[in-house]
Parts: sequence; structure tokens; C-alpha cells
Amino acid sequence: MDKIRIAFFDAKDYDKESFVKANVNDEFDITYYDARLSTDTCKLAEGCDVVCVFVNDDINPEVIDKLQANGVKLIALRCAGYNNVDIEYAYGKIHVVRVPAYSPYAVAEHAMAMLLTSVRRIHKAFIRTRDFNFSLSGMTGFDMHGKTVGVVGTGKIGRIFIDICRGFGMNVIAYDKYPAVDSGIKYVSLDELWEQSDIISLHCPLTDESRHMINEESISKMKKGVVIINTSRGALIDSEALLEGIKDRKVGAACLDVYEEESNIFFHDYSNHIVNDDVLARLISMPNVIVTSHQAFLTSEALSNIADTTLANVKEFMREGKCINEICYKCSRMDSCNLKHEKKCF
Ligand code: NAI
Repeated sequence: MDKIRIAFFDAKDYDKESFVKANVNDEFDITYYDARLSTDTCKLAEGCDVVCVFVNDDINPEVIDKLQANGVKLIALRCAGYNNVDIEYAYGKIHVVRVPAYSPYAVAEHAMAMLLTSVRRIHKAFIRTRDFNFSLSGMTGFDMHGKTVGVVGTGKIGRIFIDICRGFGMNVIAYDKYPAVDSGIKYVSLDELWEQSDIISLHCPLTDESRHMINEESISKMKKGVVIINTSRGALIDSEALLEGIKDRKVGAACLDVYEEESNIFFHDYSNHIVNDDVLARLISMPNVIVTSHQAFLTSEALSNIADTTLANVKEFMREGKCINEICYKCSRMDSCNLKHEKKCF
């Protein structure tokens, strides 16, 4: 049987390592490209069955048309979120599959790592003690125990984050568009969550509805000193409004693993360059803002699960013409789509 040809975009060393390992039977002919998939780089996929892409590859209508013209049959996302793919436009043209879960623990644990780092000033202590500065001035944190954490999105990652918070003795409240029945989670309205939370952590997808859910108005409803954590998607937060909230001393701290304009910045080394994004630069300059560059997923367990599931998705689709992890615009809730279409969206 012919090998399945995959053009792999935005390839990093750690991606190659895990995919080479997962391709143990050499069933896939994978060509790795540093470049992201865009209208300019579509040509690289000529003659391939599949393109494999990540969070910042821009799969717009023009890219979809070009891929289709090049004979590509499948877009295999090696991530869970799919806001970077025009799935409505792809419908009927090219199938799209994703990795719905690879390690929700990786992301939930990173959210807590950022929260603890911020609240207990670990990022400051690390730098101070390296310079033999053992002063504790300005290092006062607060106890997690007894604080109210508001979790937006109680899916796989949100629920694990909730369990971690409960382990710290925190009071958990949550909002979800589709609350989980019998979960024992205390659901409140979004306004109540903004008003009552000492800490807010975002774990919902980016959609038209959730875009900029944290904005000037929602920040005005929050407690003074609130800590905001975003490990989901950058555009859930209006970054300029967040910056104003921090400057006004309303927002006590922000822990950002994602940023709305991250696509041309994150995952690259700009240490010798002038970064032109003034909002990001100002956020990073704040003593109470921690930024990691979309790193929450990055554990060896997650990388190995991503590679295994992506290649299993590709194989299932290319051999059987359908795949359980397909996504389409007709369903924001994947289960119903797949049930309705018997594992096939069109
Ligand atoms: P999931 O699909 O298991 O859970 C998402 C939850 O959000 C669901 O319960 C859903 O009902 C809820 N939801 C949908 N729309 C909503 C809205 N408008 N308001 C409130 N809740 C809403 O997804 P999972 O695996 O928990 O991932 C959550 C998000 O984490 C993903 O959408 C992705 O953007 C992000 N992510 C970030 C990573 C990183 O490295 N920083 C890695 C993996 C995922």
C-alpha cells in the first residue's frame, strides 16, 4: 500500500521528534516545513494527501481553494482548538480533523503553575536570588486557600483545573454555555462570575460569542486585584482593555499563555529584534504580568499523544474515508455532528 504523503507545516524540533517516533512503521511519508501554511506556502503541499497544521497556520478560504486544487484531501490539525480554520468554507471541499484531547493535565497544570508563580512572586525571586539579592521587599503574596476562583469553560481542561483548585481549598464557581449536569460544579452567570471571583481562569474555545469576553465592561464588574489566567485563546481577552485594567490597578495580575496577536510573534526568537507590538511590550513590562508563549500544552506526554492521534486520524480518514475526530461548521458540539453523519461530516 502506498505511503500517505503529509506536508507538515510550522514544524519545530520537538514536533519532528515525536512524529518520527509515532511513524514507527514508516506508513507515512512526512515532509517537514519550518514555514507556516499560508497562501504563499500552499504550493509546498502539491502532491500530498494531507496537510498537518498547528494553532497559528492560517487556513482561510484562499488557502482551502489552493489546497483543494493541489489535490489535498485532509487538513489534520495537531491541536484541539480550530478557530484558525474557516471550517464553514472547508465544508464540502476538504475534511478537517483535530486532536480533541492530548493532555488536558498539561494545560490545567500550566494554568496553576502560572497562577502560583504570579501570586507568590516566584518569577521575581528567581531573578533576585541569582543576583544574590535576598530581600523580601515587594514579595508578599496571598493564600490560595479560601479564595474564590471563577472557571469559564468546564470541559476537559476546565474540570481538571477545578480539581486542582479544590485541592488547594479554593471555592470554585464556574460558567459554561453548556453546563455539565450532575457534575457537582457550582454554575453561576457570567456577571456573577466576574463579580465574585478573586481569580478567573479561561478554559472555553474562541468563538464569535466568546471573542473579547474579557473587555472593558467585564473588567469593570470584577473585584479589585483580580488575577486573570488565560491558557485558552488570546482573543478571549481584549488586550488593550486588560492593559488599561492593569494600569488602573483594577486587575491585580495577569497570567497569559496566549495573546490575541500572537500568531507572528509566539514560537519565534525575537530576542535580538525590536518587537512592534506595543500592547504586548507594555504588558510584558508590567511586574504583575507573566507571559508564556503558548507553552501550556508542551509536555512529553502531550507531544506523544498529539503525534499518535494525528497519525491515527490521518490513517483512519485515508483508509476508511471517515474519522471520528472530524470537525465541521454544522456542529460546535462535535458529538452531534459525528452521530448525525456517522463519523463523516459530508
Ligand atoms: P472542551 O471542548 O473539552 O471544553 C470547552 C468547554 O467550553 C465546553 O464545556 C464548552 O461547553 C464550553 N464553552 C463553549 N463555548 C463557551 C462559551 N461561549 N462560554 C463558556 N463556555 C463555553 O475543550 P478543552 O480541551 O477543555 O480546551 C479548552 C480550550 O483550551 C480550547 O478551546 C483551546 O482553545 C485551549 N487549549 C489551549 C492549549 C494551550 O497550549 N494553551 C492547549 C489545548 C487547548
